[in-house]
Amino acid sequence: MIILGIESSCDETAVSICKGGKILSNIVSSQQIHNDYGGVVPEVAAREHDRLLNHLIIKSLDEANISLNDLNGIGVTKGPGLAGTLLTGVSFAKGLSQSINIPIIGINHLEAHIYANFLAYPKLKYPLVCLLVSGGHTQIWYIKNIFDYELLGDTRDDAAGEAFDKGARVLGLGYPGGPIIEKISLKGSSNAINFPRALMEKDNLEFSFSGLKTSLLYLVNKEKSFDLKDVAASYQKAIIDVLVTKLLRAVNIKKVNNCIIAGGVAANNCLRNLVDEKIEDKINVFYPDINLCTDNAAMIAFLAEIYLKKGMTSNIDFEVIPNLKLR
Ligand code: KG4
Ligand code: ZN
Repeated sequence: MIILGIESSCDETAVSICKGGKILSNIVSSQQIHNDYGGVVPEVAAREHDRLLNHLIIKSLDEANISLNDLNGIGVTKGPGLAGTLLTGVSFAKGLSQSINIPIIGINHLEAHIYANFLAYPKLKYPLVCLLVSGGHTQIWYIKNIFDYELLGDTRDDAAGEAFDKGARVLGLGYPGGPIIEKISLKGSSNAINFPRALMEKDNLEFSFSGLKTSLLYLVNKEKSFDLKDVAASYQKAIIDVLVTKLLRAVNIKKVNNCIIAGGVAANNCLRNLVDEKIEDKINVFYPDINLCTDNAAMIAFLAEIYLKKGMTSNIDFEVIPNLKLR
């Protein structure tokens, strides 16, 4: 089956074509227009998706060396995300599916992040534990079997990606904060400042990052001068330490042999390295290539194909759900 994937939940306009679980083309256009604002401006993002989608789909078909008539289905993100940007992608996808008369599948963006691991590692086996870390979510899932999810831990306030983004803003570093903080941290000392790690007591699988952010704000307001590299590295380490501790705890509690990391923050090498270092040898840990961790449409097309093969398609009148949950 050949599937077109469309992703427009935030500020990445992404289009991909997958065939039989393999990527034929994967285009991501990251909107630079928001850089001046220090965050995503929803209406501007929606207009950008509208401006780019048609062009990117033509380019994607071209790269995959196929025509519209070769497509068997369209997968499109229906949530969670910004209402306006989701609507742009879904409206486009609905129009296209009607005009060429192929099925459409509304896809949960969070589920697609998880399935990016199955796209990268087709032999991955259940049951597994997943650390899902993106701009809006920080959760630990126990996935017993396909589409069978149990939430083990969630954040009480900010998500890990949000902690990176807000930290970068406090430090005047721009958006998105994760990759910028990671880069600056390379030359800093992660032991320089002892930032707080919340909810570390035994067996706790919840997260909280708002205290960490406040503590950074105090430091920046109090100290006249500080070493930006050391502050960034210590701040990053405080986030990563908590993520890794809780992931290992969940793996232990559920006694699984496989664990995966998904979402934009999974692109962070400090996170990847620490998990690799701390995890027991007998446990396999997987994370996809960086371009499949951050928002992309290959994960959308890949998951849509799984649904389509099971005959699970969406009615044409399905709605976008900005606060869609995994379960
Ligand atoms: O999954 P994603 O691309 O979009 C959402 O679904 O939210 O995740 C975006 C988040 C942002 O908060 C961004 O700062 C963070 O992922 N991120 C990173 C890195 N690359 C992206 N955080 C830490 N290190 C990175 N290298
Ligand atoms: Zn995402």
